[in-house]
Amino acid sequence: MNRLPIILFAFFHLSLFTVPSLAAGAEHKMQVSDFGKTSAGIPVSRYVLTNKQGVEAVVITYGATLVSLKVPDRAGKSADVVLGYDTVEGYEQGKSYFGGTIGRYGNRIARGEFTLGGTAFHLPKNDGPSSLHGGTVGFNKRIWTGVDRSRADAEVLELSYTSADGEEGYPGTLKVKVTYTLPAETNELRIDYTATTDKDTVINLTNHSYFNLSGDTSKEIVEHQLLLRALQYTPVDATLIPTGELRAVRGTPFDFTKPTAIRARINQDDEQLKFGNGYDHNWVLERTPKAGLQLAAEVFDPTSGRVLEVLTTEPGIQFYSGNFLDGTAKGKGGQLYAHRTGLCLETQHFPDSPNHPSFPTTVLKPGETYRTSTVLRFSTRK
Ligand code: GLA
Repeated sequence: MNRLPIILFAFFHLSLFTVPSLAAGAEHKMQVSDFGKTSAGIPVSRYVLTNKQGVEAVVITYGATLVSLKVPDRAGKSADVVLGYDTVEGYEQGKSYFGGTIGRYGNRIARGEFTLGGTAFHLPKNDGPSSLHGGTVGFNKRIWTGVDRSRADAEVLELSYTSADGEEGYPGTLKVKVTYTLPAETNELRIDYTATTDKDTVINLTNHSYFNLSGDTSKEIVEHQLLLRALQYTPVDATLIPTGELRAVRGTPFDFTKPTAIRARINQDDEQLKFGNGYDHNWVLERTPKAGLQLAAEVFDPTSGRVLEVLTTEPGIQFYSGNFLDGTAKGKGGQLYAHRTGLCLETQHFPDSPNHPSFPTTVLKPGETYRTSTVLRFSTRK
């Protein structure tokens, strides 16, 4: 007896029920699972966003942190291109901000103080004389609430957090949302930030991912070629606080207007490089006013062929060459992250803006909505 017609019938019958709902994307849910608990016993969730081209992004509710990001190389082989930890404990004890959402104020504020509307505010000094990345317990060490907002054309994870008035010294209750979007058809991870406040405050949100496009974190990132769309940068003093000057990059080791290997000039005898122990500076992006997302940086790893383009609405970008990594941070799979095995491209407003009236303002007032976006776009090249 021939069973084929029966099998075919069963198959079509089944597909009638399954195919239409999948096509509409209605049934599709991103994976969510347990990532562990904080030392205080608070559960942390892990969301996995995937697309059709082999891109996979993992985000946890601790710090709204990007834990891993798998993207294909020129042979189509996916590998993880960001640094991170395997456990909540790693992130709780970590001092390198791997993949974290940084706030309320990313980067440094001089002397841990600023004045707003005639009132002086005092912040924790956690970086020599300065306040760094939102203070002792910044947004990267807070628990966020995740909601799956996926659409037919993209997996979307929305994370929210309310920062209390006075938290880490900052004024105003701040309601923050960070949304990670991974489109089904394109290899890019978009990060959108929104925030509102009930008192005048300052805000500068960013993501602190460390990239190693080789997918092999035992390798240094110094062979990566970098392009920055910037003609100026903000030079710093010995504590990495901007002097206020906007200095031309031309003729200096800070000129990345053409793709240049990071290694090429990083050890030059240059006062600014000495202050940073390498690159750890803010570049002033060339922007068309009100243009929305514009290319800020491009990184190319010649070995894997991976290319990362960073697009942003922000006026600045901190290029940090992983100078403080010293092989003590025990990362994913037990990897000890050594000197310069990851690089950061933190899209941002300029460091210490609250103390520099000439820099673009970082003040947020009640009734306004803070809105910035950054896109990490991946491709490959020969
Ligand atoms: C930022 C800072 C660096 C360093 C790292 C974290 O990129 O600019 O100086 O503090 O964060 O180690």
